Amino acid sequence: MPKLPITRRPVKGAVFGFGSIGPVHLYSVRGTPDGSIHPVPDVEIVGVAEPVSERASAIPSGVEVFPDYRTLLRQADVDVVHICLPHHLHAPATIAAAEHGKSVICEKPMALNASEARMMRDAIASNGVGFSLISQNRLNGEKAWMKKRVAAGDLGTLTRIDWTVDWFRSAEYYDAGSGWRGRDSEARGGVLSNQAYHTLDLVMWLADSPVTEVVAECSTDRVLHPGIDVPDRVEGELHFRNGILSRFMCTVCGDRRDVIRVELRGSVDGKNTFVVADGNSIVEQNILPESPQFAVEGAFLGKACYGSSHQTNIALSYEAFMGEGAVPVAADTGINVLRVIDAILESNGKPVPVP
Ligand SMILES: NC(=O)c1ccc[n+]([C@@H]2O[C@H](COP(=O)([O-])OP(=O)(O)OC[C@H]3O[C@@H](n4cnc5c(N)ncnc54)[C@H](O)[C@@H]3O)[C@@H](O)[C@H]2O)c1
Repeated sequence: MPKLPITRRPVKGAVFGFGSIGPVHLYSVRGTPDGSIHPVPDVEIVGVAEPVSERASAIPSGVEVFPDYRTLLRQADVDVVHICLPHHLHAPATIAAAEHGKSVICEKPMALNASEARMMRDAIASNGVGFSLISQNRLNGEKAWMKKRVAAGDLGTLTRIDWTVDWFRSAEYYDAGSGWRGRDSEARGGVLSNQAYHTLDLVMWLADSPVTEVVAECSTDRVLHPGIDVPDRVEGELHFRNGILSRFMCTVCGDRRDVIRVELRGSVDGKNTFVVADGNSIVEQNILPESPQFAVEGAFLGKACYGSSHQTNIALSYEAFMGEGAVPVAADTGINVLRVIDAILESNGKPVPVP
């Protein structure tokens, strides 16, 4: 039996992990009791795997609870699984799900490194299941607008995309739960693969050209975050094949307001063009008489820094698995972002080619 498109209705889904982001996935599909988030049509979440009992106790009644994702895969009759586990479990859980014939909606980053992500892509392909990587911020109004303006040539030839992710996370943040966010074996890349991942992905999407070389330095603030062995500050530059230079700085030792700034610069007929996004707003630009305004649509699920586009990302993933359209972000994109992260982590101040 071909596994795609998924034909039964409702499509049955399950969530692996009910920590910070697992509930966002569950309620993105079910809708919220107050009606502020509408359910995804023709989809039902029937199971959640979560080993921590106080988290499992928050799973709503009617949803079967499993102590581990492997038990769920053996026992539950589901078509799709949502991987909301720590980074190091994305690859084993995706491969196990594919081998059980389940399609996968996976949280970012796709895996710990590009090599694991390639194994995931192979397992997906050889088992004929679907895969959708969550990258919800691409669906935010201001980022979609920037992509449209770049694609339409309104900035002319793009020459620079500079970006800053200036956030603050405490030592307690790294200690929380099992402490996985501070361990290289479980959260390789630290701030880069956790907080700054989305902005790196957006910049690569906007540049629309392969990264050929990176130069970067990673460091860890031992006063602020004494117990971690992942970087909490990374800065450097990305060189794109089409000539764009991208300078960046990302940190969780900085601004408690969680600043994300992306600056595009280009030129049209010798005239410089620019667009600057700060958070969800376009704060400066010279390509239109007036800057567009973007309301942050829909209700927030989870923390405000997740944005409000998870539900759209998840709904589009299910539509693609049911045979309508393509997933918003496919496995190859996740692999490409990890190739760049791998090179950044290797750089140590020296140029590293991205093959
Ligand atoms: N897209 C976004 O904006 C966004 C936001 C937050 C987190 N994330 C991603 O989601 C993933 C999870 O992050 P989080 O902050 O929710 O982590 P978390 O630690 O809060 O939650 C992970 C959960 O997985 C559970 N778990 C561990 N092993 C398990 C197993 N074998 N079977 C079932 N459950 C198991 C843990 O008990 C925990 O509750 C990360 O990869 C992170 O990058 C993405």
